[in-house]
Amino acid sequence: MADNGAALHAARPTRITAAAFRRMKGRGERITMLTAYDYRSARLFDAAGVDGLLVGDSLGMVVLGHETTVPVTVDDVIHHCRPVAHAAQRALVVADLPFMSYTTSREQALTNAARLVQEGGSQAVKLEGGRSVAGTVDALVTAGVPVMGHIGLTPQSILRFGGYRVQGRGKAAAQHLVDDARALEDSGAFAVVLELVAAQVAERITAALKIPTIGIGAGAACDGQIQVMHDILGYDVPGGFVPKHAHQFANVGDTILEAVKRYVSEVQTGAFPTEAQSFTLDESVLKAIGEER
Ligand code: KIV
Repeated sequence: MADNGAALHAARPTRITAAAFRRMKGRGERITMLTAYDYRSARLFDAAGVDGLLVGDSLGMVVLGHETTVPVTVDDVIHHCRPVAHAAQRALVVADLPFMSYTTSREQALTNAARLVQEGGSQAVKLEGGRSVAGTVDALVTAGVPVMGHIGLTPQSILRFGGYRVQGRGKAAAQHLVDDARALEDSGAFAVVLELVAAQVAERITAALKIPTIGIGAGAACDGQIQVMHDILGYDVPGGFVPKHAHQFANVGDTILEAVKRYVSEVQTGAFPTEAQSFTLDESVLKAIGEER
């Protein structure tokens, strides 16, 4: 008879790895990714069959309320990565190396990537940039850390870009992106995110690479897609900003608002809690208390 440990092990779905992403591209299977920042969401997304969960530095905006990703720290990412890593049974967990946490030196990049893997529990890291970070990608991969690249609109450079604009629209800019993508592949990245890239350029990059492209606002030809969970779930107050590249598959903001308004009202009127949500004493204890008085 199998012991409990073996039975539990057998029940676990096969873990998606960085290498599996490459094989999925080879088989022409579309890769699905979503951001996640907490245990319950990650558990739901994993159960829904998402292939990769990114603990993105977008947490700066959607979780911490900053205006950009720039203030996010390695500690912030680790804090949110731990519960995601605990929740994910099948999905590959990727953690973002935040702003200036990998650009000062190779040692800095190695130290911070090691923290995301060892303390955060991620199975891969993502960093922004193309040819400029190729040496760093090589060093991380050589050290045993799977790396996902990220080119196009790179939010950590928002102070330089001055706004969230589609990238690669001119001839030189398009070629620049193709060269960046090739450099990431050559330095050992297992996948590359293309953010806000003109669809035709993303298609060219996808055809040129053996590693998968994961698009966000980069058209349908990419090997996979990634979105910020709050954007596709409508997790905001009514009228909140929804980027053009995100389709709202639900409106949990409205659902939460309605539910919490009802909660507030029922507490105020005394309709909640009822007996069903209360805990009572046995008659004998009640009587004994009464006798003591
Ligand atoms: O931080 C993030 O959520 C990201 C995705 C938008 C790709 O980098």
